[in-house]
Amino acid sequence: MQLLDGKKVSEDIKNEIAAEVKKMKDNGEKVPHLAAVIVGNDGASLTYVGSKVKACERIGFESTLIKLPSTISETELLKKIEELNQDDNIDGFIVQLPLPEQIDDQKVLMAIDPSKDVDGFHPENFGKMALDMTTFIPATPFGILELLERYNVQTAGKHTVVIGRSHIVGRPMSILMGRKGFPGNSTVTLTHSHTKNISQITTQADIIITALGVPNYLKAEMVKDDAVIIDVGITRVPDETNEKGYKITGDVDFANVSKKASYITPVPGGVGPMTIAMLLKNTLLAREQRALRGQ
Ligand code: GUN
Repeated sequence: MQLLDGKKVSEDIKNEIAAEVKKMKDNGEKVPHLAAVIVGNDGASLTYVGSKVKACERIGFESTLIKLPSTISETELLKKIEELNQDDNIDGFIVQLPLPEQIDDQKVLMAIDPSKDVDGFHPENFGKMALDMTTFIPATPFGILELLERYNVQTAGKHTVVIGRSHIVGRPMSILMGRKGFPGNSTVTLTHSHTKNISQITTQADIIITALGVPNYLKAEMVKDDAVIIDVGITRVPDETNEKGYKITGDVDFANVSKKASYITPVPGGVGPMTIAMLLKNTLLAREQRALRGQ
């Protein structure tokens, strides 16, 4: 079994980006500037956004964190987004999901200027991705592709089973794994809450990508020998022995599944850090594209 070490690979990527930023600085060019909008006080969301901003600082990006109250109206949030669209100092920005009930996620995502949509969630960018056009690829799926590529995990002709059809992970992942190219060229099954006999499907899989958010869901008997296992789950499970009072747990019963897998991502230290690295990569791309337009 080979561990797909997202912590290490994400450090490599961040070092590569930091080297690019240094070159930009040395040439007297603008460095990439990422803004992150967070609405409300959800602990996990605040932690994720905090990590994204911290990572920016470490590699020499500019960053802006915009914290808004959970009571904010949709109109006010849309106004903030328009300000960020117009702000020439910002190359890319994200609005952390989920949003409070009174706000329509789709309306918010549609309001983001596609050229600054470094999450790749705007329908224009999502459509381009599905049509194999160059665009921002959502950071978590992009991170999984990068891990598969850097470990040279073969995907052509393989059967990939994706568990979960979220707009952030499952749906884009199912599209990307079926695209022409590497990683890709795989035969994809997208499973979800209405899928029947899921074990019958997962035991046929060469590659399983699980993005469900149910701790220890994927058991050894659901997996065939030598399968590649990608665990996107990051659920906080209460744990008295940990000073934070919780531990991060994946969708995969790692202790048992790892004995059968050919490659497997750990949690933490697998897909999570890759998501941040790829968001930074998209932001670098946004800066480069703006520089080409003289912005
Ligand atoms: N919530 C969970 N993952 C993500 C992500 O990648 N981007 C945003 N904006 N919100 C998220």
